[in-house]
Amino acid sequence: MAYENIIAEKKGAVGLVTLNRPQALNALCAALIAELEEALDAFEADDEIGAIVITGSEKAFAAGADIKEMKDKSYMDVYQQDFITKGWGRLATCRKPTIAAVSGFALGGGCELAMMADMIIAADSAKFGQPEITIGTIPGSGGTQRLTRFTGKSMAMYMCLTGEFIDAETALRSGLVAKVLPAAELLDEALRIAAKVAGFSRPTTMMCKEAVNRAYETTLAEGILFERRVFHSTFSTEDQKEGMSAFAEKRKPEWKNR
Ligand code: CAA
Repeated sequence: MAYENIIAEKKGAVGLVTLNRPQALNALCAALIAELEEALDAFEADDEIGAIVITGSEKAFAAGADIKEMKDKSYMDVYQQDFITKGWGRLATCRKPTIAAVSGFALGGGCELAMMADMIIAADSAKFGQPEITIGTIPGSGGTQRLTRFTGKSMAMYMCLTGEFIDAETALRSGLVAKVLPAAELLDEALRIAAKVAGFSRPTTMMCKEAVNRAYETTLAEGILFERRVFHSTFSTEDQKEGMSAFAEKRKPEWKNR
């Protein structure tokens, strides 16, 4: 599909979205978000796709919401349009596993978008920040909530209250990212991980991420119960029978995605 602000392409069983608005460091304007929503919808509906990677350029994953586009909006504008809602959360609602591959700046809405993916892997050049405080506002797309859950209160407060950026190693130590790599290796590694995930039983990967995500929405006891029931439900799939039989028979499983 041809877009103006993103590139969407298939790499085998992986859907790759590259944010592509270099003149604005991939600032997330309304047109970009609409295209992102459309591309994610298409990958979610595509049976050939088992996982999705979202990335930016070497200089910027995304430098935030488009400040020039929003600076003159009134309270009534943003309230009545429910600004930063439609399309913005689409990545977080994907049922297929998602990876954000972050190089350079992931700031404001860019950091928030990366945090909506199931995992973030970062180039050693990555810089994460919630600098909204420096322009007279606060994070608006989950920054105060997801960052706090992922890094804990102190780091989230530091980032949100000072607007200072953290580097990839700090993000790794803080639990924000899963892995840090040299920039030149970032995309290959993201695609390798995504292809590996896409190569497992599709419904099982979806159930697995659903169970992990539950941890952020509920109590421990309820989360464990949810996990147990989903674990039980995998025994109704052909792929659980195939996976465990293949292990016992010392052969590779052939997933049916059923
Ligand atoms: N919105 C609109 N345009 C942006 C932008 C943004 N968030 N970030 C960068 N740009 C534009 C710049 O205006 C500039 O455009 P021009 O060439 O037309 O002047 C171009 O991208 C290149 O940027 P710089 O010249 O500033 O590049 P730099 O390397 O000197 O600095 C930077 C890079 C530190 C990332 C700097 O651009 C910056 O501070 N950007 C804004 C970061 C920010 O505050 N993000 C939060 C936005 S608010 C938000 O996201 C709310 C929310 O929670 C959803």
